[in-house]
Amino acid sequence: MEDSGTSTALIPLLERISLDADDATSRRVDLPDGSRVWLVGDYDDARTVLTDPRFSADDQIPGYPCLLPAPPRPGALSFLRMDAPQHGRVRRVLTPSFTMRRIEKMRPGIEDATRRLIEDMREEGPPVDLVDRFALPLPSLVICQLLGVPYEDHGAFQEHSRAFLSTDGTAEEATAALTALGDYIRTLALRRRTEPADDLLSTAVQQQEAAGMTDEDVVAMARLLLIAGHETTANMLGLSVLTLFEHPDQLSALRRDPALVKPAVEELLRHHSIVRTALGRVALADVLLPGGRTVRAGEGVVLGIKRANQDDRFLTGPGGDGVDIHREVRGHLSFGYGMHQCIGQTLARLELQVALTELLRAFPGLRAACPLEDIRVRHTAVILGLHTLPVAW
Ligand code: HEM
Repeated sequence: MEDSGTSTALIPLLERISLDADDATSRRVDLPDGSRVWLVGDYDDARTVLTDPRFSADDQIPGYPCLLPAPPRPGALSFLRMDAPQHGRVRRVLTPSFTMRRIEKMRPGIEDATRRLIEDMREEGPPVDLVDRFALPLPSLVICQLLGVPYEDHGAFQEHSRAFLSTDGTAEEATAALTALGDYIRTLALRRRTEPADDLLSTAVQQQEAAGMTDEDVVAMARLLLIAGHETTANMLGLSVLTLFEHPDQLSALRRDPALVKPAVEELLRHHSIVRTALGRVALADVLLPGGRTVRAGEGVVLGIKRANQDDRFLTGPGGDGVDIHREVRGHLSFGYGMHQCIGQTLARLELQVALTELLRAFPGLRAACPLEDIRVRHTAVILGLHTLPVAW
């Protein structure tokens, strides 16, 4: 697996520092924009930063680390970048739609969509790019249905999402992509005011007044869901299949015992930690972290999720610091922690479990259609993924 690299200095730097074997503790690092921030790679320190209200997720507060190519305008990333109590008011509009019970009801639809994509792959015949034909369409179809976005528009919204998160383009391109996505969603939201449907966009429109949200807040919330709902799961799915190819013993074990899919998904989430260094916070007061470092008011923090997920507590059993789908991983930080912990995690887990199960069942001989060394890792900003994954069966 080769790192394709990116043109912006920010990402390789963050990637390097978060993977550096010596950075198990929390320490100060320089960002390419000249700012000096804390890189928190220690597990307990990371959980403190993510739960202590003296750390803010508001990217408009001076000192918040600049982690995206284009620093978003106020409110652009909705409740992802809000603190209590405003965060809870907005997030609560969505929470009833993401309970275990509600997500479990989506299982038959997700299974259907998965099987249809598999049939299309079969029809096309090998080699097929698994990223383009399976890993990206599946979560996109699911989030479209949940949110109420026509899937026919996937070409445009996938492109805009990538442009917003990409480190290869300019800040202007990233801002333009975010604006274009907003314009697209605004049109859909307007229609929901007169023609409500059974989807999250309609829920948001109906509850916007009670939640104290403006029209633009609704647009930002739906846009956040659209971006977060497909890009992350798609990347995770491609990487999961690649990792199984890289570990044939584990692939065979999963084929023999499909019940292993739950621990396997959890371990793969922990192992890849695809958000890497995408989480930032800024201190509102001086805070002494459990590891002994003091973060001063106004100082920025970048969470080293990959490093925190390599804490000794996870590396039990024969797998050591590699991948071991047999171990029961609990408490990893791949979905974050605390009040911003991923609202879509139950859905993401379900999609990943269904996708891997159906894929392995449908193609007993599934394998990479090129040497594994040729497969390139893609950094979309600070989220890890694959460009392509050619497969045969
Ligand atoms: C493998 C897939 C996924 C991963 C690894 C992931 C990761 C994360 C992480 C680490 C956070 C915390 C951010 C922070 O604390 O700053 C987060 C938040 C969030 N995620 Fe996910 N996510 C995934 C899938 C999804 C899906 C499927 C959806 C929507 C359907 C979603 C929607 C969100 C939203 C709206 C937030 C903001 C929550 C808040 O601020 O309260 N994510 N995600």
